[in-house]
Formats: sequence, C-alpha cells, structure tokens
Amino acid sequence: MRYVTTGASRGLGLEFVRQLLERGDAVEAGVLLLEENADVLRALARESKGRLRVHPLDVTDPASVGAFARAVDKGGPLDVLINNAGIFGGTEPLSELDFQGVLRTFDTNALGALRVTSALLPTLRRGSIRRIACLSSRAGSLTENTLGGLYAYRLSKAALNMGVRNLAMELRPEGFTVLCLHPGWARTDMGGPTAPQTPEESVQGLLQVLDRARTEDTGRFIDFRGQEVAW
Ligand SMILES: NC(=O)c1ccc[n+]([C@@H]2O[C@H](COP(=O)([O-])OP(=O)(O)OC[C@H]3O[C@@H](n4cnc5c(N)ncnc54)[C@H](OP(=O)(O)O)[C@@H]3O)[C@@H](O)[C@H]2O)c1
Repeated sequence: MRYVTTGASRGLGLEFVRQLLERGDAVEAGVLLLEENADVLRALARESKGRLRVHPLDVTDPASVGAFARAVDKGGPLDVLINNAGIFGGTEPLSELDFQGVLRTFDTNALGALRVTSALLPTLRRGSIRRIACLSSRAGSLTENTLGGLYAYRLSKAALNMGVRNLAMELRPEGFTVLCLHPGWARTDMGGPTAPQTPEESVQGLLQVLDRARTEDTGRFIDFRGQEVAW
C-alpha cells in the first residue's frame, strides 16, 4: 500500500517511515527543512528501491502543501494519509501567553492537517482503502484536562479533534475512515528523554490500530494500545 507521512524528519514521523518500509509498503514523506533535516531519510530512500520518496512540506504554507500534493499525485493513487507533523508551542501561563505563538501552533497542528488532507483528497479517492489518521494527543481531550497549562498545544489538538470529527462526517458517504490517534508519551524530541514509550512501540501500536480500522471506526479517538480516548 502507499502511505503519506508528514513531519518525517525525526520522531514518530521518521519511525512511521522506517516501519512502513520494513514491511514492504511505499511511503511519500514530507519534510519541513529538506536540505537540513533529511540525511537519514535520503539514506533510507536510496536503499528503498523507489518505495520511499522524500519531498519538502511546510503544512502551514498553502503553496508548499499544493506542490507536495502534486508531487504525491504524480506517483499514483494513495491509500493512507498520516497527518503527523506537529509542534508543542509554549508552556507559559495566561499572564505571559504569547498569542502569536499560540496562533502558530494552531496553524501547524489544527489547520496543517486540514490543508494536507484537502490537497490530497483527490489522490486518496483513487486509492484502495481511503484511510486518514491525525496524530492528536490526550492533551487535547477536554474530559481528561485536569491539570491545565499548555494553552497552545491543548487548544490546537482540541481543534484538530473537532476537525477529525467533521472530516469523518463529511467523508463517510465516500467510504473514508478518519481517525484521531494518541501515540502515548513517546521518547522523541517533543516527548523528551523520560517518556515511557519508545517511538518504535508507539508506532508499532498505531500501525496496528490503523491496519485494523474499518469504515465503522471513522471519527474515533484511539490510543496506540487500541483503547478509546475520551473527547
Ligand atoms: N511524542 C509524544 O509523546 C507525543 C504525544 C502525543 C502526541 N504527539 C504528536 O505526535 C506527532 C509527532 O510527534 P513527535 O514526538 O514525533 O514530534 P517531534 O519529534 O517534535 O517531530 C515533529 C515533526 O514535525 C515536523 N514539523 C513541525 N512543523 C512542521 C511544519 N510546519 N510543516 C511540516 N512539518 C513540520 C518537524 O520537522 P523539523 O524536524 O523540520 O522541525 C518534525 O519532523 C505530533 O503531532 C505530536 O503532537 C506526540
């Protein structure tokens, strides 16, 4: 099958690429700073016998998203889109809130996934299984927010969750399955060195969830162990 992964330079995005290639799938990888941050991906691409293609992609830039979608489309139909790119944003309290920073985080995490999905829909429609996954977070759950803080990240992921629900409803008649995925707390640059899960464990679990997903699962919020997350 043919996958797209955004934010593929490091962390969970890079691990998605590794595991998908290992099991024989083809991957179109989007990388924010292609010249600076794609050495590992380029090496993987060289060994992949054409199954990995690497493209520049800034999910906040409509022109970049458009060029990415055109390049992906040229490669043929797409089966699964993984909207993985994301940023953490600031951690300051309300009195010091950097509102521009909150908007940047929102633009990347919430609108970025919608921009990429919209641009790739025609290519996904030509694919065999019409599946879209958005990397959200438990931090975006209204129900589970008992600690507060992390304004930028929480607001952006809550908005992404609503975006997923809308996409699920809009695309249900066409047989799409759209999921919100929580990867656990994984040891990446974002998750930090004390996180309990390795990126390998996290992505292995998420791919199992994605593989098992059926159209009746559309609009669900599921973690890397297959457990439901409360909205
Ligand atoms: N790690 C966790 O514990 C955890 C928990 C819950 C949810 N998540 C979610 O899982 C996803 C992946 O997280 P991670 O831990 O792998 O994060 P990460 O290590 O910080 O990697 C983030 C990736 O997103 C890319 N990116 C950032 N802004 C972008 C933009 N404007 N356009 C395109 N790509 C962009 C980065 O590119 P550069 O390398 O060029 O900066 C990088 O490849 C995120 O959506 C995150 O919110 C992670």
